[in-house]
Amino acid sequence: MAKHDLDPNYLDPNYEPVVNFSDNTPFHEILAARMQRRTVMKGSVGAALASIMGVGLAGCGSDSSSSGTTTGGSSASTDLGFKAIPVSSENTVVVPEGYSSEAFLPWGTPITGSYPDYRADGTNTGADQEQQVGMHHDGMHFFPIDLRSGGNSSDEGLLVMNHEYIDQRALHANGPTRAEDNNGVRPADEVRKEIAAHGVSIVHIKKGSEGKWDVVFGSPYNRRITGGTPMDIRGPVRGYSKLVTPYSLSATETRGTLNNCAMGPTPWGTYLTAEENWHGYFATSAEDRPREYVRHGVNGSSRYDWELADSGLDQYVRFDVTPRDGGSAQTDYRNEANTFGYMVEIDPFAPESKPQKRTALGRFGHEGVIFAPAKEGEPVVCYSGDDSRFEYIYKFVSAQPYQAATANGTLLEEGTLYVARFNDDGTGDWLALSLDDAEFAAKVAAAEGTEVGRSNILFDGFENQADVILNTRLAADIAGATPMDRPEWGAVDPNSSQVYFTLTNNSQRTEEQTNAANPIAENRTGHIIRWSEDGGDQAATSFEWDIFVFGGEEGTETVVDDEVVVSLTDDNIFSSPDGLWFDYNGRLWIQTDNGYKKETFGNDMMLAANPETREIRRFFVGPVGCEVTGVVTTPDSKTMFVNIQHPGGNWPNASEDRPRSATVVVTRDDSGVIGA
Ligand code: FEO
Ligand code: CA
Ligand code: CA
Repeated sequence: MAKHDLDPNYLDPNYEPVVNFSDNTPFHEILAARMQRRTVMKGSVGAALASIMGVGLAGCGSDSSSSGTTTGGSSASTDLGFKAIPVSSENTVVVPEGYSSEAFLPWGTPITGSYPDYRADGTNTGADQEQQVGMHHDGMHFFPIDLRSGGNSSDEGLLVMNHEYIDQRALHANGPTRAEDNNGVRPADEVRKEIAAHGVSIVHIKKGSEGKWDVVFGSPYNRRITGGTPMDIRGPVRGYSKLVTPYSLSATETRGTLNNCAMGPTPWGTYLTAEENWHGYFATSAEDRPREYVRHGVNGSSRYDWELADSGLDQYVRFDVTPRDGGSAQTDYRNEANTFGYMVEIDPFAPESKPQKRTALGRFGHEGVIFAPAKEGEPVVCYSGDDSRFEYIYKFVSAQPYQAATANGTLLEEGTLYVARFNDDGTGDWLALSLDDAEFAAKVAAAEGTEVGRSNILFDGFENQADVILNTRLAADIAGATPMDRPEWGAVDPNSSQVYFTLTNNSQRTEEQTNAANPIAENRTGHIIRWSEDGGDQAATSFEWDIFVFGGEEGTETVVDDEVVVSLTDDNIFSSPDGLWFDYNGRLWIQTDNGYKKETFGNDMMLAANPETREIRRFFVGPVGCEVTGVVTTPDSKTMFVNIQHPGGNWPNASEDRPRSATVVVTRDDSGVIGA
């Protein structure tokens, strides 16, 4: 039996091993408080019942003193002006009347080097793939080409996108050669191609005279960053002994970024790419694994067996993190997986620049990152979710203030990482994960010598702050964070500065494990939570939260203080919200990655929401089998780019056998603002 068959979920990249066995929340207390204010929804057609503890969002949104830098976003700018489209199960992209869509930059599009043509029979080599757009498009951002000189071009820019993982069957001419069928090894060029299909693409694109976008051939900006590109380790764990490898005895460098899910553009015009389910790329046969592997799910065999490449080259062997007999961190790759799990900064305007792993933002299953609008003289603040069941939401506050004239990635070198605790009364607290914080230090001291939560990790302290960051999840367990229903993307409302996060689903939450912020047992359809930082200060250590909307079937209601604020209809039923983005006018775009009741919800989709009224309309439905993930517009909001990941059929080209992830360009036929 093939080893991958041992776990039927193994090849499902959305499979999230449950590795948080901590027992943080005093559930009985929260439940008792919450029940007094609980409102039970009545689904009109037998919808899953949703409930919410109401916090009265008016208290957050209407208080101008707490909404900070709002620009007084008029409701007009966030109105939805298109006719909602129905759910669809067709193998095509559907957009509203008056809109058009076209596939762009599918996997395999040549963008650099010798621009090798895409071969529809799967025979492109590893070297070809290193010069072509990667697979499984995900988070994406459009940087106007003149951004660095203060410009705002909507006709030309750098489209930067992540390639989260791969479909081995489509990638290779005859599917992958499995080690178990090939004397225990994999052909090295297959491995090279797989590593090259991961990572990030930077594509210089330009709108032609007929409004059609194209790659700028020969542009020096066109670049591929892959699972093998050299990178620097920056921030607290740089130089830490637990990151020493034969590749970097000084623990300052590593190779590659993997499983890049979502992203975040920085206020200084660079791109941060997230390393999400990186644990699955490493193999270990060690029985005693360090806590920084145990708590992150690094265990057993690797997803693609790259360590078994038949060339035996160092760049492949490193994916086996088993300590060798008589070896050390200097001679084997026992520490390699400690160089993953970070946000990675890429400067798309500096093609020769080396990507920087920004470790101060924590090490976990980063879904993405979202920056609050930067304010002159104040700290830089960003938020990042850890997408696994029962994991947490984090916030980073820089030590140094933002100065627009000089801002750069060094602002992410030093600062405080916090984790969120959502209290049952609608308040919340940011808990510092810093040994310099007296409260955290006391909790760490108290936890020493005990088993933290229900895990088998006997906690023996943290050596230093680098150790805290390396073990971010464990530190958050100790701090007492609230375990969430798989935090995916976040977004910050440009008008109100409220922060939104999708909680995609969590089928494993039991009734006893519900809490006010995650109130549904066996949460199949997910919800979206939001909060306002106290005093309108994005760096505040407390906040007020409520639930924006629950996903679900027709009739699912979201109730705040006994008032039904959303009741889902044909126009907007959705399940498993994932991608989330505020456009430049303040409309909220919600993308789905749903595997539940496809007969009801149809293909994955994107909806638009008015954050003030909670009106939600379905705007876009993707082709069969896909996930809709990644969205951005040009600054004029007239061209929208939407990514389609892992389409199931022969999309976008019906004449080809292989499905190809691609970007979809959406425009309005009257050249108007998308969504208005
Ligand atoms: Fe890659 Fe959590 O989605
Ligand atoms: Ca996602
Ligand atoms: Ca997802």
